[in-house]
Formats: sequence, structure tokens, C-alpha cells
Amino acid sequence: MRLIGGNWKLNPSTLPEAELLAESIRLPQEEVETVLFPPVAFLEELAKKSPKFRWGAQDFFHKDTGAFTGEISLPMLRSIGAAWVLTGHSDRRIKFSESDKTVSEKLRAALRENFSVILCVGELERGSEGALEESLKQSTKGVHHDELARLTICYEPVWAISTSPNAEADSPEHAEEIISRLKEIIPTRWIYGGSVTSANAAAFLSMPSIEGALVGGAALKGEEFSKILEIASQ
Ligand code: PGA
Repeated sequence: MRLIGGNWKLNPSTLPEAELLAESIRLPQEEVETVLFPPVAFLEELAKKSPKFRWGAQDFFHKDTGAFTGEISLPMLRSIGAAWVLTGHSDRRIKFSESDKTVSEKLRAALRENFSVILCVGELERGSEGALEESLKQSTKGVHHDELARLTICYEPVWAISTSPNAEADSPEHAEEIISRLKEIIPTRWIYGGSVTSANAAAFLSMPSIEGALVGGAALKGEEFSKILEIASQ
């Protein structure tokens, strides 16, 4: 089944705005796995009010208890309605210095705790895909083959993310080329992320190896995100 993830990042700023956003999203007739990643402060309320969506956390810590000031554990997230987590997003890797090793610790913990996971990998600059394979291998170190079914991997070139300077979406053909190559290393569901909109979603989803999208900016507009879901259902 196709997956469309909505990564709200640090938006919107209040719970009423977050509730309005969730209410404005229409699910298509045909099934599309729709997972929303709101700021964690709003997760519990949103998951209670809109159980028709799957809900996830943008970040978490890999241990359950202890002296880890400021962290939040996977069991805590489960208790407020999250069944999904993101890990390896470039915001975390770049702005919060998360290494492949940290990402792999988080990934293994999330799979152990029976969460479904979207793992993100992507090169920093156009043309620098050389390091991707190694990053993918290190980020998935120690993951058992039989856990792959709960793992969705998002190829998200950092230069294509809408908040990067001069960002523009990758071409569907290039994303397909990279994903089909990486899929040979980790054969699981692969999706694309980076400036996905209702104008380009169909082209990405028509590629044989691309089974969904992780959406940032366009996930903050109910109408636009609903259109992407509709496209994904076709
Ligand atoms: P974007 O963000 O759709 O705004 O490019 C995607 C992401 O960062 O997950």
C-alpha cells in the first residue's frame, strides 16, 4: 500500500491551529496509509480527536528511563497515541548533530518496541550521492531481516527539501534511479521526500520503486495535502 507521511515539523504553534489542520484533511476513498507527524505536544489530543489517521512522533529517545533530561521514550509516545516514528530526518542529522550511529540506535529501539518507522536518508548536495549507500548501511546496522516489513525508507535529498536554499524537487527519474539502487541493499517500501506537492506527486508515484511520499511544507495546507492523498489513492 502507498504511504503518505505529513511531517509538520515545528508547526503550527497552537493546539487549536493543529486541530483545524487535521480537520481540514480529507482521506481518499481508496486506502492510502496516511501518517501525520505533528509536534509532540499536540499528539495526544490530535490522536484522540482524529483516530482515522495514523499518528507518529518526529523524534524520540532510544532508552525507556533514566537520567536523560528532556527526552521522551517510545513507551511514553505509545501511551499518547503514536504508532509511528520518524528517524534520520535531515533536520535531526544536520541541526541536532545526529549521526548514522544515533539513527541506528533509534531505529533498532523503535522496531524492538513494535513501532512502524520511516527512516530518512539523503545526500546534502546535488551530485553527492556517493556517500548514501554507506549512510544507509550504517543507519540500518543491526536491523533483522524480518523487521524490514515495518520499515519504510524515505529517500530525501536535502537540497530538494523546500526549506533548503534554492530548493527544488528532484526529478522523478533521478529519484527512481537512486531508490532502485538502494532498494537492492534494503528491500523494503521506499518513498520519496523533498518539495512534494499536488503538482508533482503523480509523477513521483508513477515510478516503479516509489511507493509513497514524505511531505513537509505541503502537509501544512489541508487542501493541498488532501489532493496529494487523492493522487496517491489512484
Ligand atoms: P518539504 O519537506 O516537503 O517541505 O520539502 C519534506 C521533509 O522535510 O520531510
